[in-house]
Amino acid sequence: SWTMLNIVEDSVEAVRRQVGEGRAICALSGGVDSAVAAAIVQRAIGDRLTCVFVDHGLLRKGEAEQVERDFVAATGVKLRVVDASERFLKALEGVTDPEEKRKIIGREFIRVFEDEQRAIMADGPVEFLVQGTLYPDVVESGGGTGTANIKSHHNVGGLPEDLEFTLVEPLRALFKDEVRRAGEELGLPAAMVWRQPFPGPGLGIRIVGAVTRDRLAILREADAIAREELSRAGLDRQIWQCPVVLLADVRSVGVQGDGRTYGHPVVLRPVTSEDAMTADWARVPYDVLSRISTRITNEVREINRVVVDVTSKPPGTIEWE
Ligand code: XMP
Repeated sequence: SWTMLNIVEDSVEAVRRQVGEGRAICALSGGVDSAVAAAIVQRAIGDRLTCVFVDHGLLRKGEAEQVERDFVAATGVKLRVVDASERFLKALEGVTDPEEKRKIIGREFIRVFEDEQRAIMADGPVEFLVQGTLYPDVVESGGGTGTANIKSHHNVGGLPEDLEFTLVEPLRALFKDEVRRAGEELGLPAAMVWRQPFPGPGLGIRIVGAVTRDRLAILREADAIAREELSRAGLDRQIWQCPVVLLADVRSVGVQGDGRTYGHPVVLRPVTSEDAMTADWARVPYDVLSRISTRITNEVREINRVVVDVTSKPPGTIEWE
Protein backbone atom coordinates (compact mmCIF):
# COMPACT_ATOMS: atom_id res chain seq x y z
CA SER A 1 0.00 0.00 0.00
CA TRP A 2 0.98 3.63 -0.43
CA THR A 3 1.39 4.39 3.30
CA MET A 4 3.34 1.22 3.94
CA LEU A 5 5.62 2.12 1.05
CA ASN A 6 6.26 5.48 2.74
CA ILE A 7 6.96 3.87 6.08
CA VAL A 8 9.49 1.53 4.48
CA GLU A 9 11.15 4.34 2.52
CA ASP A 10 11.38 6.58 5.60
CA SER A 11 12.87 3.74 7.55
CA VAL A 12 15.45 3.02 4.83
CA GLU A 13 16.39 6.70 4.81
CA ALA A 14 16.73 6.79 8.62
CA VAL A 15 19.06 3.77 8.55
CA ARG A 16 21.14 5.39 5.80
CA ARG A 17 21.56 8.49 7.96
CA GLN A 18 22.39 6.51 11.09
CA VAL A 19 24.91 4.12 9.58
CA GLY A 20 26.56 6.54 7.16
CA GLU A 21 29.60 4.81 5.65
CA GLY A 22 29.71 2.26 8.50
CA ARG A 23 29.16 -1.52 8.41
CA ALA A 24 26.51 -3.60 10.12
CA ILE A 25 25.78 -7.20 11.01
CA CYS A 26 22.47 -8.92 11.62
CA ALA A 27 21.55 -12.37 12.88
CA LEU A 28 18.69 -13.97 10.93
CA SER A 29 16.49 -16.41 12.84
CA GLY A 30 14.06 -17.46 10.14
CA GLY A 31 11.39 -15.27 11.73
CA VAL A 32 9.69 -12.24 10.25
CA ASP A 33 11.17 -9.53 12.51
CA SER A 34 14.85 -10.14 11.82
CA ALA A 35 14.07 -10.70 8.12
CA VAL A 36 12.23 -7.40 7.68
CA ALA A 37 14.83 -5.50 9.72
CA ALA A 38 17.62 -6.98 7.59
CA ALA A 39 15.80 -6.25 4.33
CA ILE A 40 15.36 -2.59 5.29
CA VAL A 41 19.01 -2.22 6.26
CA GLN A 42 20.10 -3.96 3.07
CA ARG A 43 18.13 -1.42 1.03
CA ALA A 44 19.86 1.35 2.93
CA ILE A 45 23.49 0.21 2.90
CA GLY A 46 23.69 -2.76 0.52
CA ASP A 47 26.76 -4.93 0.95
CA ARG A 48 27.94 -3.04 4.00
CA LEU A 49 25.41 -5.23 5.84
CA THR A 50 26.40 -8.84 6.46
CA CYS A 51 23.72 -11.22 7.71
CA VAL A 52 24.54 -14.33 9.68
CA PHE A 53 22.27 -17.33 9.80
CA VAL A 54 23.20 -19.84 12.47
CA ASP A 55 21.46 -23.07 11.53
CA HIS A 56 21.19 -24.80 14.92
CA GLY A 57 19.51 -27.82 13.36
CA LEU A 58 16.36 -27.20 15.42
CA LEU A 59 14.30 -25.49 12.74
CA ARG A 60 11.29 -27.00 11.03
CA LYS A 61 11.14 -28.52 7.60
CA GLY A 62 12.04 -26.04 4.85
CA GLU A 63 12.87 -23.12 7.15
CA ALA A 64 16.63 -23.10 6.63
CA GLU A 65 16.12 -23.16 2.84
CA GLN A 66 13.65 -20.28 3.16
CA VAL A 67 16.40 -18.14 4.67
CA GLU A 68 19.34 -19.36 2.59
CA ARG A 69 17.59 -19.43 -0.77
CA ASP A 70 14.28 -17.55 -0.88
CA PHE A 71 15.15 -14.66 1.42
CA VAL A 72 18.50 -14.08 -0.28
CA ALA A 73 16.87 -14.25 -3.71
CA ALA A 74 14.21 -11.73 -2.65
CA THR A 75 16.57 -9.21 -1.05
CA GLY A 76 20.07 -9.73 -2.46
CA VAL A 77 21.36 -9.68 1.10
CA LYS A 78 24.94 -10.75 1.77
CA LEU A 79 24.61 -13.84 3.94
CA ARG A 80 26.94 -16.13 5.83
CA VAL A 81 25.39 -19.47 6.71
CA VAL A 82 26.81 -21.54 9.53
CA ASP A 83 25.70 -25.15 9.78
CA ALA A 84 26.16 -25.55 13.52
CA SER A 85 23.76 -28.46 14.03
CA GLU A 86 26.52 -30.88 15.03
CA ARG A 87 27.74 -28.50 17.68
CA PHE A 88 24.27 -27.86 19.11
CA LEU A 89 23.42 -31.57 19.20
CA LYS A 90 26.64 -32.34 21.00
CA ALA A 91 26.01 -29.61 23.57
CA LEU A 92 22.46 -30.90 24.09
CA GLU A 93 23.44 -34.55 24.39
CA GLY A 94 21.51 -36.26 27.18
CA VAL A 95 19.92 -33.01 28.40
CA THR A 96 16.24 -33.30 29.33
CA ASP A 97 15.59 -30.28 31.56
CA PRO A 98 13.75 -27.54 29.59
CA GLU A 99 15.54 -24.56 31.12
CA GLU A 100 18.87 -26.31 30.74
CA LYS A 101 18.10 -26.85 27.04
CA ARG A 102 17.25 -23.15 26.61
CA LYS A 103 20.45 -22.08 28.37
CA ILE A 104 22.63 -24.34 26.24
CA ILE A 105 20.99 -23.27 22.98
CA GLY A 106 21.31 -19.57 23.88
CA ARG A 107 24.93 -19.97 24.92
CA GLU A 108 25.96 -21.91 21.81
CA PHE A 109 24.18 -19.40 19.61
CA ILE A 110 26.17 -16.51 21.05
CA ARG A 111 29.44 -18.42 20.67
CA VAL A 112 28.82 -19.25 17.03
CA PHE A 113 27.64 -15.72 16.26
CA GLU A 114 30.75 -14.25 17.88
CA ASP A 115 33.02 -16.45 15.80
CA GLU A 116 31.27 -15.11 12.71
CA GLN A 117 31.62 -11.53 13.91
CA ARG A 118 35.34 -12.00 14.25
CA ALA A 119 35.58 -13.37 10.74
CA ILE A 120 33.54 -10.46 9.37
CA MET A 121 35.63 -7.93 11.29
CA ALA A 122 38.78 -9.29 9.72
CA ASP A 123 37.72 -7.25 6.63
CA GLY A 124 37.40 -4.07 8.65
CA PRO A 125 35.49 -2.69 11.61
CA VAL A 126 31.76 -3.25 12.13
CA GLU A 127 30.08 -0.61 14.24
CA PHE A 128 26.41 -1.56 14.03
CA LEU A 129 24.23 -4.47 15.09
CA VAL A 130 20.77 -4.77 13.53
CA GLN A 131 17.92 -5.96 15.74
CA GLY A 132 14.25 -6.58 14.95
CA THR A 133 12.95 -4.85 18.07
CA LEU A 134 9.24 -3.99 17.76
CA TYR A 135 7.28 -1.21 19.42
CA PRO A 136 5.72 -3.51 22.07
CA ASP A 137 9.24 -4.69 23.06
CA VAL A 138 10.35 -1.06 23.38
CA VAL A 139 7.42 -0.28 25.69
CA GLU A 140 7.96 -3.42 27.74
CA SER A 141 11.64 -2.72 28.33
CA GLY A 142 11.07 0.92 29.30
CA GLY A 143 12.20 2.46 26.06
CA GLY A 144 15.96 2.28 26.57
CA THR A 145 18.32 1.56 23.70
CA GLY A 146 21.77 2.37 22.41
CA THR A 147 24.49 -0.19 22.56
CA ALA A 148 24.93 -3.90 23.00
CA ASN A 149 27.86 -5.62 24.56
CA ILE A 150 28.55 -9.05 23.27
CA LYS A 151 30.88 -10.84 25.57
CA SER A 152 33.91 -12.38 24.03
CA HIS A 153 34.37 -15.89 25.39
CA HIS A 154 37.60 -16.79 23.73
CA ASN A 155 39.66 -13.69 23.42
CA VAL A 156 41.76 -14.60 20.38
CA GLY A 157 43.92 -12.56 18.06
CA GLY A 158 44.09 -9.43 20.17
CA LEU A 159 40.41 -8.57 19.80
CA PRO A 160 38.87 -6.47 22.55
CA GLU A 161 37.32 -8.32 25.49
CA ASP A 162 33.90 -6.87 24.72
CA LEU A 163 32.71 -5.95 21.28
CA GLU A 164 30.51 -2.91 21.46
CA PHE A 165 27.93 -2.12 18.82
CA THR A 166 25.48 0.65 18.22
CA LEU A 167 22.04 -0.83 17.68
CA VAL A 168 20.10 -0.27 14.48
CA GLU A 169 16.43 -0.97 15.12
CA PRO A 170 14.36 -0.11 12.05
CA LEU A 171 11.15 -1.66 13.45
CA ARG A 172 11.08 0.23 16.74
CA ALA A 173 7.93 2.16 15.82
CA LEU A 174 6.02 -0.77 14.34
CA PHE A 175 3.51 -3.33 15.55
CA LYS A 176 3.64 -6.92 14.35
CA ASP A 177 0.95 -6.52 11.68
CA GLU A 178 2.81 -3.49 10.30
CA VAL A 179 6.03 -5.49 10.18
CA ARG A 180 4.24 -8.14 8.12
CA ARG A 181 2.89 -5.52 5.72
CA ALA A 182 6.35 -4.00 5.42
CA GLY A 183 7.66 -7.50 4.65
CA GLU A 184 5.13 -7.84 1.85
CA GLU A 185 6.06 -4.41 0.55
CA LEU A 186 9.71 -5.51 0.51
CA GLY A 187 8.78 -8.64 -1.46
CA LEU A 188 9.84 -11.17 1.19
CA PRO A 189 8.73 -14.82 0.89
CA ALA A 190 5.11 -15.22 2.09
CA ALA A 191 6.02 -18.16 4.33
CA MET A 192 8.39 -15.90 6.25
CA VAL A 193 6.10 -12.89 6.33
CA TRP A 194 3.16 -14.89 7.66
CA ARG A 195 5.06 -17.31 9.88
CA GLN A 196 3.32 -17.96 13.17
CA PRO A 197 5.30 -17.54 16.40
CA PHE A 198 8.04 -20.13 16.76
CA PRO A 199 10.42 -20.23 19.72
CA GLY A 200 14.10 -19.42 19.30
CA PRO A 201 15.16 -22.79 20.82
CA GLY A 202 13.03 -24.37 18.11
CA LEU A 203 12.26 -28.07 18.05
CA GLY A 204 14.74 -28.51 20.90
CA ILE A 205 11.97 -27.64 23.36
CA ARG A 206 9.33 -29.69 21.53
CA ILE A 207 10.97 -33.02 22.20
CA VAL A 208 10.10 -34.11 25.72
CA GLY A 209 13.27 -36.01 26.54
CA ALA A 210 16.77 -35.77 25.13
CA VAL A 211 17.28 -34.19 21.71
CA THR A 212 18.81 -36.42 19.04
CA ARG A 213 19.15 -36.17 15.28
CA ASP A 214 16.70 -39.07 14.76
CA ARG A 215 14.08 -37.61 17.07
CA LEU A 216 14.38 -34.24 15.32
CA ALA A 217 13.83 -35.91 11.95
CA ILE A 218 10.69 -37.65 13.22
CA LEU A 219 9.26 -34.48 14.75
CA ARG A 220 10.11 -32.44 11.66
CA GLU A 221 8.02 -34.76 9.47
CA ALA A 222 5.05 -34.84 11.85
CA ASP A 223 5.14 -31.06 12.25
CA ALA A 224 5.26 -30.50 8.49
CA ILE A 225 2.15 -32.65 8.02
CA ALA A 226 0.22 -30.83 10.74
CA ARG A 227 1.15 -27.42 9.33
CA GLU A 228 0.27 -28.47 5.80
CA GLU A 229 -3.19 -29.76 6.76
CA LEU A 230 -4.04 -26.78 9.00
CA SER A 231 -2.98 -24.49 6.22
CA ARG A 232 -4.94 -26.42 3.59
CA ALA A 233 -8.02 -26.14 5.84
CA GLY A 234 -7.59 -22.35 5.83
CA LEU A 235 -6.94 -22.16 9.58
CA ASP A 236 -3.59 -20.29 9.57
CA ARG A 237 -5.05 -16.93 10.55
CA GLN A 238 -7.50 -18.35 13.11
CA ILE A 239 -4.92 -20.37 14.96
CA TRP A 240 -2.18 -18.51 16.82
CA GLN A 241 0.21 -21.44 16.51
CA CYS A 242 0.13 -25.22 16.78
CA PRO A 243 3.19 -26.76 18.39
CA VAL A 244 3.64 -30.45 17.63
CA VAL A 245 5.38 -32.15 20.54
CA LEU A 246 7.19 -35.49 20.45
CA LEU A 247 6.93 -37.52 23.65
CA ALA A 248 10.21 -39.21 22.96
CA ASP A 249 10.44 -41.26 26.16
CA VAL A 250 6.85 -42.51 26.01
CA ARG A 251 5.95 -45.61 24.04
CA SER A 252 2.65 -47.28 23.43
CA VAL A 253 1.47 -50.33 21.57
CA GLY A 254 -0.09 -49.90 18.17
CA VAL A 255 -0.97 -51.82 15.07
CA GLN A 256 0.34 -50.32 11.86
CA GLY A 257 0.63 -51.89 8.45
CA ASP A 258 1.15 -55.60 8.89
CA GLY A 259 2.02 -55.78 12.53
CA ARG A 260 2.21 -54.69 16.10
CA THR A 261 4.32 -51.60 16.79
CA TYR A 262 5.73 -50.00 19.89
CA GLY A 263 6.03 -46.35 18.91
CA HIS A 264 5.88 -42.81 20.19
CA PRO A 265 2.98 -40.37 20.54
CA VAL A 266 2.93 -36.81 19.26
CA VAL A 267 0.79 -34.12 20.83
CA LEU A 268 -0.98 -31.46 18.75
CA ARG A 269 -1.24 -28.21 20.65
CA PRO A 270 -3.37 -25.84 18.53
CA VAL A 271 -4.15 -22.60 20.38
CA THR A 272 -5.93 -19.34 19.83
CA SER A 273 -4.51 -16.23 21.49
CA GLU A 274 -4.17 -12.45 21.28
CA ASP A 275 -0.68 -12.03 22.69
CA ALA A 276 0.50 -15.47 23.95
CA MET A 277 0.08 -14.34 27.58
CA THR A 278 -3.15 -16.30 27.75
CA ALA A 279 -4.44 -18.83 25.26
CA ASP A 280 -7.30 -21.22 24.67
CA TRP A 281 -7.12 -24.58 22.93
CA ALA A 282 -8.34 -24.18 19.39
CA ARG A 283 -11.52 -26.02 18.37
CA VAL A 284 -10.02 -27.49 15.21
CA PRO A 285 -12.70 -29.30 13.18
CA TYR A 286 -12.68 -33.07 13.73
CA ASP A 287 -12.20 -33.85 10.07
CA VAL A 288 -9.02 -31.75 10.00
CA LEU A 289 -7.71 -33.47 13.14
CA SER A 290 -8.58 -36.79 11.57
CA ARG A 291 -6.61 -36.05 8.40
CA ILE A 292 -3.59 -34.95 10.43
CA SER A 293 -3.73 -38.07 12.57
CA THR A 294 -4.14 -40.45 9.65
CA ARG A 295 -1.34 -38.88 7.66
CA ILE A 296 1.14 -38.70 10.54
CA THR A 297 0.62 -42.33 11.55
CA ASN A 298 0.79 -43.47 7.91
CA GLU A 299 3.75 -41.37 6.86
CA VAL A 300 5.90 -41.29 9.99
CA ARG A 301 6.74 -44.87 10.84
CA GLU A 302 7.93 -44.18 14.40
CA ILE A 303 4.68 -42.48 15.47
CA ASN A 304 1.68 -44.66 16.24
CA ARG A 305 -0.53 -42.29 18.23
CA VAL A 306 -1.67 -38.67 17.85
CA VAL A 307 -3.23 -36.87 20.81
CA VAL A 308 -4.70 -33.38 21.15
CA ASP A 309 -3.94 -31.05 24.05
CA VAL A 310 -7.17 -29.44 25.32
CA THR A 311 -5.64 -27.32 28.09
CA SER A 312 -5.95 -23.54 28.13
CA LYS A 313 -3.20 -21.16 29.29
CA PRO A 314 -3.20 -20.86 32.22
CA PRO A 315 -2.74 -23.45 33.57
CA GLY A 316 -0.82 -24.98 30.66
CA THR A 317 1.79 -22.96 28.80
CA ILE A 318 1.61 -23.00 25.00
CA GLU A 319 4.86 -24.95 24.67
CA TRP A 320 5.33 -28.15 26.65
CA GLU A 321 8.81 -27.16 27.80
P1 XMP B 1 4.59 -20.32 26.53
O1 XMP B 1 5.01 -21.72 26.29
O2 XMP B 1 5.38 -19.65 27.61
O3 XMP B 1 4.90 -19.52 25.19
O4 XMP B 1 3.11 -20.19 26.77
C1 XMP B 1 4.46 -18.22 24.90
C2 XMP B 1 4.98 -17.83 23.53
O5 XMP B 1 6.39 -17.70 23.54
C3 XMP B 1 7.01 -18.66 22.68
N1 XMP B 1 8.18 -19.18 23.39
C4 XMP B 1 9.46 -18.79 23.17
N2 XMP B 1 9.97 -17.93 22.28
N3 XMP B 1 12.14 -18.40 23.09
C5 XMP B 1 11.33 -17.75 22.23
O6 XMP B 1 11.82 -17.00 21.40
C6 XMP B 1 11.70 -19.27 24.02
O7 XMP B 1 12.48 -19.84 24.78
C7 XMP B 1 10.27 -19.46 24.06
N4 XMP B 1 9.48 -20.24 24.84
C8 XMP B 1 8.20 -20.04 24.40
C9 XMP B 1 5.94 -19.71 22.41
O8 XMP B 1 6.13 -20.36 21.14
C10 XMP B 1 4.69 -18.89 22.46
O9 XMP B 1 4.45 -18.22 21.24
